[in-house]
Amino acid sequence: MKQFSNQNDLKIALKEHSGKRIGFVPTMGALHSGHASLLIKAKAECDLVVCSIFVNPTQFNEAADFENYPIRIEEDLKTLQSVGCDFVYIPDNPEDVYKNEQDFKVDLGILDKIMEGVKRPGHFDGVLRVVKLLFEIVSPTHSYFGLKDYQQYMIIKEMSRQLKMGVEVIGCPIIREADGLAKSSRNLLLTLNQRQIATTLIKTLRYAHEYYDRFETRELERICLTMMRQYGEPEYFVIRRSDNLEKIDSSYKGEIRAFTVCKIGDVRLIDNLRIR
Ligand code: PAJ
Repeated sequence: MKQFSNQNDLKIALKEHSGKRIGFVPTMGALHSGHASLLIKAKAECDLVVCSIFVNPTQFNEAADFENYPIRIEEDLKTLQSVGCDFVYIPDNPEDVYKNEQDFKVDLGILDKIMEGVKRPGHFDGVLRVVKLLFEIVSPTHSYFGLKDYQQYMIIKEMSRQLKMGVEVIGCPIIREADGLAKSSRNLLLTLNQRQIATTLIKTLRYAHEYYDRFETRELERICLTMMRQYGEPEYFVIRRSDNLEKIDSSYKGEIRAFTVCKIGDVRLIDNLRIR
């Protein structure tokens, strides 16, 4: 595995691989088996796998969240080796990523105006800024994102389409702990007691899956929020169409997902589940 700390060296190395299937997995590090699953899929489908580790300052809407974000480069490098990652880009400083930034505009409709778009103002702007730059640096043919951050996946896919970036954006299944908690770097911040309480997210999502047919969508959202309030501070629990995140109307027969964010102590956890 080759490691790069600046984009110029990475671009030079990538030139030797032009014309190949380049699979790219952008991350913020503190890698776990959720990240590894994306790299494994990329490895299976592409000729060359590139990972980036960059805790992107522009997507954190709370300074404390940015400062507390776990950094574990040594362990991450071992994980990347073990899954056969070819190139890893770990920029020295944010300037290396942002130096050639140019303004751009995409029309995301409601995609960035609901759920995380409301709760974390500016977050998706920061995500899109960095992912666009990383796509320009790496020029991947394929890029892999977890469905855990479903709204992020939808927005990046739409940006890539509108800006004709030539990247196939692929959504990958959510990897969970044995008790159902979605793997997350933030799980490291939970106390033992909070870690147990954190299963309330998946339990409530599974409840929504089980009882989807018995209640009206709005009623079920309310019930699920009430259930979660017994254990943590839910920010939202909403049921939406998987294809465009619009509300459900009776004529819609396609796939549906429930989306939630809940704070357990100071730790903000996100999850979703396909319920139809
Ligand atoms: P990060 O939170 O490090 O996540 C990197 C990728 O791993 C994302 O696509 C995320 O959805 C995926 N992922 C995280 N946990 C997962 C799980 N349990 N199962 C499956 N996939 C999982 O998301 C970001 O970084 C950043 O916003 C980024 C896209 C890198 C831009 O800075």
